[in-house]
Amino acid sequence: MATIIGGLAASHVPAIGGAMAKGLQKDPYWAPFFDGFDAPCRWLEAVKPDAAVVIYNDHGLNFFLDKMPTFAVGAAPEYRNDDEGWGIPVMAPFKGDTKLSWHIIETLVESEFDPVTCQEMLVDHAYSLPMELFLRGRAHDIPTVPVVVNTVQHPLPSLRRCFKLGQAIGRAIESYPEDLKVVVIGTGGLSHQLEGQRAGFINTAFDKRCMDAMTGDIEGLLGIDPHELVELAGSQGVEVMNWVAMRGALTGDVRELHRNYHLPISNTASGIMLIENRPRLAQAA
Ligand code: DHB
Ligand code: FE
Repeated sequence: MATIIGGLAASHVPAIGGAMAKGLQKDPYWAPFFDGFDAPCRWLEAVKPDAAVVIYNDHGLNFFLDKMPTFAVGAAPEYRNDDEGWGIPVMAPFKGDTKLSWHIIETLVESEFDPVTCQEMLVDHAYSLPMELFLRGRAHDIPTVPVVVNTVQHPLPSLRRCFKLGQAIGRAIESYPEDLKVVVIGTGGLSHQLEGQRAGFINTAFDKRCMDAMTGDIEGLLGIDPHELVELAGSQGVEVMNWVAMRGALTGDVRELHRNYHLPISNTASGIMLIENRPRLAQAA
């Protein structure tokens, strides 16, 4: 059976793509951010995952405001990257695993989630940058299942709903009959707001609460409603919904192995986390 070996989270600011293309990883502005990936990359090289489920939000590349699914799941053999307008370099395509995708989709529908199923899907910086940052040389070889959450246009799903989506994804992975080691990646956040009177808004106290909640009081986060979340995290900081969905997929005992918090990267408080997931004894038996 497939096992979930861990969860990873990272912010997904487009400017990171420009910095990577220019080789600015050791530049004083960027180094405190890029250095945060060394530990998770070492862990990933050691554990060698066979597949990655990537939970993120589309920024108008694949879905636009006229047709906005609350949840969508990729079921394509390949995912082409494109630039939704930031001018960052386009990367090579990423690999899909259609069998794992359909298993996740079937489990979600059985669990009363009804995602849009995408047999063709473009992936933007929110998928491509964390893939490259975490998986480096293997980013284009590891089969993935992209899961898209609407963090863009109200009504947004609640944090509790995102957590439950993650739990259903976790059950799907653990009932998949192939011996795959799977990591679940959640991208976006932490606090940021790009527009309006609060442009540049960052809330370090809330960011710390979110990072602590990944292995601590997750229940305390789940009661925050979407409007309160906009107030606490900023209108784009709500992307932490993708972290919460990732956390929901970690069905075993979780342990924080690494975190990095640095701000600002562009307009965003950047958080990076690596969480180990160990099956509980009862589950393992
Ligand atoms: C920025 C952050 C985002 O999450 C995003 O999708 C676009 C831009 C930024 O901080 O510039
Ligand atoms: Fe974003």
